[in-house]
Amino acid sequence: MKGIILAGGTATRLFPMTATTSKQLLPVYDRQMIFYPLNTLITAGIKNILIIVAPEHSGQFLNLLGSLFRKYDIHISFEVQSVPRGLAESLILGENHIGDDSVALILGDNIFENDFSAQIKAFKSGGHVFAKKVSDPERFGVVKFNKIIEKPKEWISDYAVTGLYLYDNKCVEMAKKMKPSERGEIEITDINKAYLKKRELEVTLFDGEWLDAGTHNCKRERNFQKFPSNFRKSDRRI
Ligand code: DAU
Repeated sequence: MKGIILAGGTATRLFPMTATTSKQLLPVYDRQMIFYPLNTLITAGIKNILIIVAPEHSGQFLNLLGSLFRKYDIHISFEVQSVPRGLAESLILGENHIGDDSVALILGDNIFENDFSAQIKAFKSGGHVFAKKVSDPERFGVVKFNKIIEKPKEWISDYAVTGLYLYDNKCVEMAKKMKPSERGEIEITDINKAYLKKRELEVTLFDGEWLDAGTHNCKRERNFQKFPSNFRKSDRRI
C-alpha cells in the first residue's frame, strides 16, 4: 500500500499564521503538524509516501523531509499542486505513485491518537473510512448509514468522516471522472459516495482523540480530556 499526505491548500482559516509558511509546517506541541500524519502512515508500515504541497511551500517541505527518513528505508516524494482543486485531486496527481497498489490517503492537518495499523494492514479492496462522534458536524463530511454529505446545512448525524481514507486502485479512475462541486473542488466525499453506492465502503467508528487542526478553534470535544499518548504527561494542557 502506498501513502499520500495532503499538505497543500491555502489555509486562509489560519491567517495570518499561514502568511509565511504552510499550515502543516506550523508547530503542534513539539513538532511540525506534518509529523503526526506521517507517524500514522509509518506506524502502519507504509514505506512510500507522497506529499502533496503548494508551490510556494515546496522548498520548505523538501528542506525538512527530503532525506530525513532515508536511513529507515522510507521513501518520501513530493508533488506540487498548483491550485487547491480539492482533496480528490491528490489521487490524480498521485497516479504514478499509486501504480497498481492501494492507497492510504491522510490529511496533513489531521492528528489521530489511534493506531490504525491493524485496519491499514488488513485492507483488501473497496474503500474504508473512519468516523468519529463530534459536536460540530457542520464542519465536516458527515456519515449516516447509507448517506455521506459534505458540510451539511441541516443536521443528519453527529459522525464526522475523519481525514484518513483507504482505497483500492479503482480510486484513481473514479477521481478522474469526478466533476468539481459548487465550491469548485473535486471532493473526497464524492469518492466515498461512489464506493458507498457500490456497497464497497466500510466505515469504522473510533473513540480515540482526533483533531482537525485547520482552524484556531480546535474545539475540545466532550471526551477531549485524554491526550494523544505522544504528548508528555507534564504538559497536558491545551
Ligand atoms: O478533517 C476532516 C474533514 O476534512 C472531512 O470531514 C471533510 O469531508 C473533508 O472535506 C475535509 O474538510 P476540510 O474543510 O477540513 O478540508 P481542508 O480544506 O481543510 O483540507 C484538508 C487538508 O488537505 C489540509 O491539510 C489542506 C489540504 N488540501 C486541501 C485542498 C482543498 C490540499 O492539499 N489540496 C487541496 O486542494
